[in-house]
Amino acid sequence: MSSVDTAADTLADLQERALAAIAAATTLDDLDEARVTFTGRKSDLATVQQSMGRISAEERPVLGKALNAFKAVVEGALADQREVLEAAALDRRLAGERLDLTIPPLAVPPGRPHLISQVQDLMVDTFVAMGWRVADGPEVESAAYAFDAMNIPPDHPARQDMDTIYLQDGRVDAYGLPEVILRPHTSPVQARVMRTQQPPIAIVIPGRTYRNDSVDATHSPVFTQMEGLMVGEGITMAHLRGSLQAFARAMFGPDRDIRLRPSMFPFTEPSAEVDVSWGTNPDGTTRWLEILGSGMVDPLVLSWCGIDPERYSGFAFGIGVERVAMLRHGVSDIRDFYEGDARFSAQF
Ligand code: PHE
Repeated sequence: MSSVDTAADTLADLQERALAAIAAATTLDDLDEARVTFTGRKSDLATVQQSMGRISAEERPVLGKALNAFKAVVEGALADQREVLEAAALDRRLAGERLDLTIPPLAVPPGRPHLISQVQDLMVDTFVAMGWRVADGPEVESAAYAFDAMNIPPDHPARQDMDTIYLQDGRVDAYGLPEVILRPHTSPVQARVMRTQQPPIAIVIPGRTYRNDSVDATHSPVFTQMEGLMVGEGITMAHLRGSLQAFARAMFGPDRDIRLRPSMFPFTEPSAEVDVSWGTNPDGTTRWLEILGSGMVDPLVLSWCGIDPERYSGFAFGIGVERVAMLRHGVSDIRDFYEGDARFSAQF
């Protein structure tokens, strides 16, 4: 028997086994294994191909044809079976991914605004209901607006008292002091509004404020304030008192009173700390809790902002939103607001 006949026999046998293995493959991995076994570099087919070099020139085309026929048949079978298996795999995946729309959904607890947002909204709404508007300004502020416009010159102790966080971007003001800060209060927005708008002005400015404080039960380096500003003709301390009385009653209950204690802020003259009544002391006297700082806008601040202090006067106040929230909801540790514990948030 010539070597061509031997090779042809081997091929026929190989083809039979290959087709059987391909037909038996139930997964794409099985199929791949069959492909490697019957057509790979170490397969019997490879051996037959190598024998091409040893046979005579006349016989070579005969064997070549047989080899091509083998390859066409086996590769065709591989491709067909691959298609079948791929279609089956897709069917299985689709079946697995099918959604049963009749299954009742898991109950997802509804989210809600954070207590600070709730209280801030309520505080703002109290003034909006009285006809005030809302303004805002940048948290990254210039020292000029935060201090100079607010009558706090560079050598003023309040500039240190504020424990300001300076941003080290290299920009300095006319005094060589760092110019860019995180605002330590919302008061600079007073100046931003007054410099672009003539009276009458009645605005509240809620927003985040920053101080270089260490964290404890009543301090946080990031906190929230709401500024108030009313400027117009004939505005007096009586307007301040009436507005803040209405505010205190809206926030804490209709039977609240407020009292004003003399205080000192560089941007207001006179200035007053405002207390709200909070039940009675053991000795029967009214208990008072401090809630905010306020005063009549200093004429220097009005002038700096381009408002004529001979014609107009105004009052301003600044309230800590966390403080109001703590009093209103009996929260004793400011850190509870920021730690994001759902057991805390879910109570409000
Ligand atoms: N800006 C002051 C503070 O942060 C509060 C304040 C605002 C006082 C407006 C008076 C008038 O302490």
